[in-house]
Amino acid sequence: MKRRGFPKKGMDQSELMSRIEEIRSKDTDFADGTIFGSMCTSPLDMAKKVHGLFLETNLGNPGLYRGTLELEKEIHSSVASLLNAPEGYEALSVGGATEGNILALWSSREKTGKRKVIIPESAHFSFKKACNLLDMEPVMIPLDDKYQPDLSTVEEEIDDDTAVVVAIAGTTELGLIDPIHDLADISGDVHLHVDAAFGGFAIPFLKEAGYSLPEFDLSIDGVDSIVLDPHKLGMSTIPLGLYYSREEHPIAIESPYLTGAHQKTIPGTRASASIPAFWSVMNYLGFEGYVSIMERCMNNTRTLLMKGKEIGLEPIVDPVLNIVSFHHEDPVRVVETMERKGLSISRTVNPPGLRFVVMPHVTEESILKMIPILEDSI
Ligand SMILES: Cc1ncc(COP(=O)(O)O)c(C=O)c1O
Repeated sequence: MKRRGFPKKGMDQSELMSRIEEIRSKDTDFADGTIFGSMCTSPLDMAKKVHGLFLETNLGNPGLYRGTLELEKEIHSSVASLLNAPEGYEALSVGGATEGNILALWSSREKTGKRKVIIPESAHFSFKKACNLLDMEPVMIPLDDKYQPDLSTVEEEIDDDTAVVVAIAGTTELGLIDPIHDLADISGDVHLHVDAAFGGFAIPFLKEAGYSLPEFDLSIDGVDSIVLDPHKLGMSTIPLGLYYSREEHPIAIESPYLTGAHQKTIPGTRASASIPAFWSVMNYLGFEGYVSIMERCMNNTRTLLMKGKEIGLEPIVDPVLNIVSFHHEDPVRVVETMERKGLSISRTVNPPGLRFVVMPHVTEESILKMIPILEDSI
């Protein structure tokens, strides 16, 4: 890109706004019905409005934002009950599951001085980022024929150097839920961290709707920490993840010149508008509102599954959550072809395939419009 000079003089406001609008129109919009590969969705309108009211809040300096802090405590407590957190839990607002996953590994290294991290091959790449950052050693666990971590390898790999075992509730590629009870039994005293970035705001509501799904949260004794993302199926604004640990998070860095005594999360200044935004979504929808959104997502998931089969695609697994992935030997080509036709889909790596995340903005109508284009592209 051509290097631009730093602007010398200010720009006329209306000229500036028309440039902004022109640029913004190049971004894809969830409402267009063209995004099938994102784990985020359009936040409720109310969340966008509330977000705008809190743009300057910074819970890195909490004494200045006592109102926002009050809402943060309320969301921590409400989501703790959703996750069956025990007395004495610690909750931290983070920028998303990547930060939550980093905190879990960091905490396990701090507590034990150990560095080995047991990670299923189905895990999100944020764990590799975390290991690199924290100088920890990832030990990748192969998947079995059901794309679940091979438990006997987990058992073999856990040793005296192991700091943490990772489990996933809602894998990025296939939306599967690891056998977390079994992993908790195998891990014993070793820290077990659950990445529920995607499944955290799906599983509790689908269970209520009658779907038979396993336990995944702090109700399981051996689970030590968990992260989930309000900015994905929580239907709120970016950036917000919630990290819970059974015991107090062991790292607290003093912040003497701010109004809080110490900070436990990674950013100093913390964009906090997504906290009231999520508070408003959670209280507006309520548990029942989330149940009906998730039921709709699952119905659309079944539609996409059926229509995909009709055009000759074979699902990699029967969807457990609202992700449908189909085998394909050249997914990169199909993703690029679809992109040229104005549709954004995603792909899986293990095994290679085409991946569709059936988020709340994906409607039956948008699926039916997309399928013939997919048929021409595969
Ligand atoms: C299972 C899982 N974990 C972690 C992440 C990372 O989340 P974020 O991008 O919010 O940091 C994702 C993102 O898609 C994910 O699917």
